[in-house]
Amino acid sequence: MAKIRISFVCGLCRHSVPKWVGCCPGCQEWNTMEEQQVASGTNQQSRSLKSTAPQLRKLEDISTTEAARMCTGIEEWDRVMGGGILPGSFLMLTGDPGIGKSTLLLHVAHILSTSHRVFYFSSEESLAQVKNRASRIGCTNSQLLLSDISSLAQIIACAQEEKPDLIILDSIQNCFLSDEHVIPGSIAQLREAAFHLMRLAKEHTIAVLTTGHITKDGHMAGPKILEHMVDGVFYLQGEDRWQTRILRSVKNRFGTIHETGFFEMEEDGMREVRDINKLLLADSAQVPGASLVTSIEGTRPILVELQALCVASKFGMPQRVVTGIDPKRVVLIAAILEKYLHVKLSSHDIFFKVSGNFKIKESGIDLGIALALLSSYFQKPLPERSISMAELSLTGQVKPINQVGIRAREAEKFGLSTIITARSQQLQTSCKIMSFRNVYELLNLFPED
Ligand code: TYD
Ligand code: MG
Repeated sequence: MAKIRISFVCGLCRHSVPKWVGCCPGCQEWNTMEEQQVASGTNQQSRSLKSTAPQLRKLEDISTTEAARMCTGIEEWDRVMGGGILPGSFLMLTGDPGIGKSTLLLHVAHILSTSHRVFYFSSEESLAQVKNRASRIGCTNSQLLLSDISSLAQIIACAQEEKPDLIILDSIQNCFLSDEHVIPGSIAQLREAAFHLMRLAKEHTIAVLTTGHITKDGHMAGPKILEHMVDGVFYLQGEDRWQTRILRSVKNRFGTIHETGFFEMEEDGMREVRDINKLLLADSAQVPGASLVTSIEGTRPILVELQALCVASKFGMPQRVVTGIDPKRVVLIAAILEKYLHVKLSSHDIFFKVSGNFKIKESGIDLGIALALLSSYFQKPLPERSISMAELSLTGQVKPINQVGIRAREAEKFGLSTIITARSQQLQTSCKIMSFRNVYELLNLFPED
């Protein structure tokens, strides 16, 4: 017979120690250890591993007919999901409180419920609150089925019995498991909840879409543990100047990552913004210090304006104030220009920003950064309606970049007429091409009067 022994288990991280301690050695939280009785002889070493052998299969015997994705017709949503929600996938939407997660999910649930069976479990809000929101956004006459239960066991039992195509869980942190030793919303609880939901999704081919909270330091609550367990993680953010909501895929097993979708929160719900580039280009002007560039976000090019301001420095240590791109990139390009063109950027303060508060990481904007700096330094604008696409090497060469085709097409679509690029860049476009081999040739764009 198994002997009963006492152990102390942390209510947050489930770390177990044989003697009581005030601070958990696992997660460093205080007063979380609770006494539990454990039957000794059930630990890892003594448990005999008896099971029937699984059946192994060859790759060719595995059928791969991909089920049709659930599309909403909201282009900005479907694209970020990788072309719609795949049946049996486990997805997580996260973002700051009040950013619009529940509103967006209600739109999605409403549309999908016309063609699929969709259950909406609102563990955060009462059904009356959901109904109010639904009538506000005009989503009342759908086949959507709702519940405000927050017991995960009940939710899973309901889904297993009814076999819907999609369940929406708003939010995972507010659901509880029956284990009373674990604090709701704690790491252990979340991990367990995610595990059960993942099994539900995979074993019954039910897509599970859940919302999750963000901690104060901007991570998904529960130190990113859930990101490993789900198929897709999407962030809804609202950081740009127009307060548009940006839906980003940061992980997607069934689509492209860094894909972005744009929405606007209006009085009557979320409205997708399909032509974000029009908004971005609306107030760009051909003035000294401004240059247009493209950045590929996921699968689509975004057109943004870079703005530079170079002013002679009054102090020995010139300032470099950069937002939206890595400051080191600007310093590096300023150094390349100074070395090869003898422009005295090191005695100038440099202020640099990306319009619309966007954050850009790719190197295809190098030439754009150089041209914005030179344009401000010489106080001369770049050619009218021009956009640059090229990388710079440390040796001062202008280098080609990838995916220029779609960048050029997007530029054409928005009425840009000149593409400034590398001499060796292969590019077919109806725009006028100005190509350069190295940074020396860039001076031709700024002729002396
Ligand atoms: P909500 O979807 O509840 O955010 P989350 O689930 O991410 O916490 O959205 C809440 C905010 O959105 C709230 O401040 C009100 C605003 N809102 C609108 O502006 N228009 C609308 O149609 C709705 C439903 C909400
Ligand atoms: Mg909500």
